[in-house]
Amino acid sequence: MVTMTSKKVLLAAFLIIFSSSVNATFVEASSGAAHPEEQSWTTNGLFGFFDRKQLKRGWQVYNEVCASCHSVRLIYYRNLSEIGFSSDEIKKIIADVEVPAGPNEDGETHADGELLMRPAKPFDKIISPYPNDLAARAANAGALPPDLSLMTKARKNGANYLHALLTGFKDAPANFEVSEDMNYNPYFPGFQIAMVAPLSDEGVEYSDGTKATVEQMSKDVTAFLIWTAEPELEERKRLGLKVMLFLLVFSAMLFAVKRQVWAKLH
Ligand code: HEC
Repeated sequence: MVTMTSKKVLLAAFLIIFSSSVNATFVEASSGAAHPEEQSWTTNGLFGFFDRKQLKRGWQVYNEVCASCHSVRLIYYRNLSEIGFSSDEIKKIIADVEVPAGPNEDGETHADGELLMRPAKPFDKIISPYPNDLAARAANAGALPPDLSLMTKARKNGANYLHALLTGFKDAPANFEVSEDMNYNPYFPGFQIAMVAPLSDEGVEYSDGTKATVEQMSKDVTAFLIWTAEPELEERKRLGLKVMLFLLVFSAMLFAVKRQVWAKLH
């Protein structure tokens, strides 16, 4: 009797798990988006690393193209030293940038609460294009350009998806009607996105001489966004390798000890 009930419980649990996984695939399939192609990122795999030259190019694309609509709120200017910018280069990057310094409340003559600005410093967060989400929506026909700091983690198959999305804009098929202010992109769930194709060939001029094709810029900015989402990726991979090496050596030692102990017992 007891085994019967536990069997039933097991069967029920199996059914629940099975049906929820079926549901998950169903939801994904019905979201209606093309599957992004697998790209080779230097950060892939056990020995994954950041190609700093590429990240610098990616920053350039973000800064010159995406930053007019998207923020990377989790990153500070000083963090750019981690992808290879010298402190002089960072100073140049922020030379014309101003950040809010708070309301004017200090003077006898000007205590009028007007918002003051001051030159940005390396310890400031990278400035956002809009003061708040409402302003962002107002400037983008009601759609919100999301913060990109964690985007490669926030989407399934993040980096491949981002690259597919950025390079995937094309004319809609004849039988597909694109709504007003929307753009056709087979990789976006629902096939239409409020973002206009942001990249076009020669959209930026790379200082390292790399040819700025859409493909190249998309790869570079995505690599940059892999970094913003996980700046400590290299340390994590290195630690993983060390742990594996340790386990290997440790197992060998245990095996040797085991052999010695058993040798005496013969
Ligand atoms: C002119 C404004 C504008 C520019 C420039 C722009 N975007 Fe967007 N982006 C948007 C808007 C608006 C949305 C929201 C789209 C929606 O919800 O339909 C968006 C959405 C996105 C998304 C989210 C897609 C998702 O799955 O939700 C990503 C990723 C993205 N943009 C990346 C970029 C990158 C990278 C660049 C620079 C190469 C860039 N965008 C440049 C306006 C812009």
